[in-house]
Amino acid sequence: MASNNDSIKKTIIVALSLCLVCSVFVAAAAVGLKPIQNANKDLDRKRNILSAANMLDTSTSVDEVFESIETRLVSLKTGRFATDAEINQAGIDVATYDQQAAAKDPALSEVLVNDPASIKRRAKFATVYLVKSDAGIDRVILPVHGYGLWSTMYGFIALENDFDTVIGFGFYDQGETPGLGGEVDNPNWKALWEGKKIYNDQGEAVIQLAKGGVDSADPQAIHKVDGLSGATLTSRGVTNLVQYWLGEEGFGPFLSVLRSEGDQ
Ligand SMILES: Cc1cc2nc3c(=O)[nH]c(=O)nc-3n(C[C@H](O)[C@H](O)[C@H](O)COP(=O)(O)O)c2cc1C
Repeated sequence: MASNNDSIKKTIIVALSLCLVCSVFVAAAAVGLKPIQNANKDLDRKRNILSAANMLDTSTSVDEVFESIETRLVSLKTGRFATDAEINQAGIDVATYDQQAAAKDPALSEVLVNDPASIKRRAKFATVYLVKSDAGIDRVILPVHGYGLWSTMYGFIALENDFDTVIGFGFYDQGETPGLGGEVDNPNWKALWEGKKIYNDQGEAVIQLAKGGVDSADPQAIHKVDGLSGATLTSRGVTNLVQYWLGEEGFGPFLSVLRSEGDQ
């Protein structure tokens, strides 16, 4: 006697079996691909650091160029490189430290009272990248982040060894609208940062985006970069986050120490 394959019971069994098999495949793919995803994420981070520092070289692999960069942790409280005692006490490893993850960990972060970058809390230790020559530090690359209109934007800014002049700036993770705020990723806009100065004569971080574009006759033009058209709110976010991270409550004290004492 032929069995009835159209019965409700059989339909449900087939559907459930299919779901089970597919979910096993999806889960296996997610777990199996995780190491590759992490490796790609790491590679992308390195590429963005090198790009900000103007060190990308198409003839050499990113990993190879990155070997010439020294990774250090800075205590944002003291404005100095984190000591071994501080690192041990915090139970972190410089090689694997993830500043973004640390900012969410109450033990490794602090709530911000003054919060112009709208990040709510920040990690106590920041990862900085140094390019050195025989003469000492050649360039420094600093991580910065802050809220735009829709998203927290994460980027790197690279400075020359006057710790004031910008070499390059770019975001590696942002969710602003493509064509509007998303233009923070436009290479033409990023190129406008090169040669700009962060600090005024009083040592205040005054670099900012100028609505409607920079007037070259403006005496402050050296501290200004064209704002993004149709994206006033993202532009304001960029100004706020750069001024915050390079200011007195961000990397300002650390950069002052580098200026006066060099590599400690
Ligand atoms: C769909 C949509 C997406 C938008 N995305 C952004 C954005 O990413 N960043 C931004 O600053 N403004 C964005 N805006 C525009 C702002 O809402 C706001 O109108 C604008 O920033 C203010 O004026 P502006 O034209 O002087 O820049 C968007 C608007 C719409 C309708």
